[in-house]
Amino acid sequence: MASEQKVAAITGAANGIGWALAQQFAAAGYAVCAIDLDLDAARARAKELSGDHEGFACDVSDADEVEKAFAAIDKRFGRLDVLVNNAGIVGSQEASIHQDMEYFDRITKVIVNGTFLCSRAAYHPMAARRNGAIVNVGSIAGLVGLPRRNAYGAAKAGVHSLTRALASEWAAQGIRVNAVAPGFIATSMVQGLVERGIVDEARLSRRIPMGRLGTPDEVAEAILFLASDSARYITGSVLSVDGGWAAFGDAGNASEA
Ligand code: NAI
Repeated sequence: MASEQKVAAITGAANGIGWALAQQFAAAGYAVCAIDLDLDAARARAKELSGDHEGFACDVSDADEVEKAFAAIDKRFGRLDVLVNNAGIVGSQEASIHQDMEYFDRITKVIVNGTFLCSRAAYHPMAARRNGAIVNVGSIAGLVGLPRRNAYGAAKAGVHSLTRALASEWAAQGIRVNAVAPGFIATSMVQGLVERGIVDEARLSRRIPMGRLGTPDEVAEAILFLASDSARYITGSVLSVDGGWAAFGDAGNASEA
């Protein structure tokens, strides 16, 4: 018999925003299913959390692996209340005329197909209880144009679009589907861009009305809200968590406007 404890599955849970999510959902009383590419890393993270949690491995872009992982979650916990589609890769950030199309396809598969496949796998346990919340991690790159983020931006716009489509389709089954659109968040993903000279942190901060990058915890808190009963009348929304980045339309320094 399924326990009374709510269960949250988080993809890409071993690092960055996903790890902040795992910690916050565990602290909020959920049993956390930490999903990542590497089983040892996922299990190690689950073990770091105090309570009844479990690590699972799958490549979210692989339909068979996703089905197996969610079957294992069902076997282990017998219910699923929340899914956060967080796993993602940022892309090679080449000039578009030199874009490696294999990598273009890989980004699309991980971000768009991965979000769809995990959501579909979560549908049955959620619909069975006529209750569930899916939160997708989109991006400002899916809202506005960022140079050299061609596949990434298109994929994140796809995530926003999937959010609205699935929200419209699954509301009748009691499943809410929302997304967050983070701005620049201080994780190893952004650190890698800084190190490769693609992103200048000081310049970036001047473009953000709140004058600084966000933290993984600040994104995780917004997701926790969208997954909670406090957001019970919210579905199909894409919430910017970006310090005002996407809202700013003036010239000059956003942080000194
Ligand atoms: P990260 O690189 O720190 O962590 C991503 C995690 O996803 C890693 O643990 C990785 O192993 C896992 N992962 C990657 N591909 C996977 C796959 N195919 N299957 C399963 N797991 C996979 O990244 P970060 O910064 O925490 O990003 C998390 C999400 O937030 C991503 O979707 C990213 O696009 C999005 N995002 C991040 C922003 C940022 O500034 N850091 C801004 C906007 C969105």
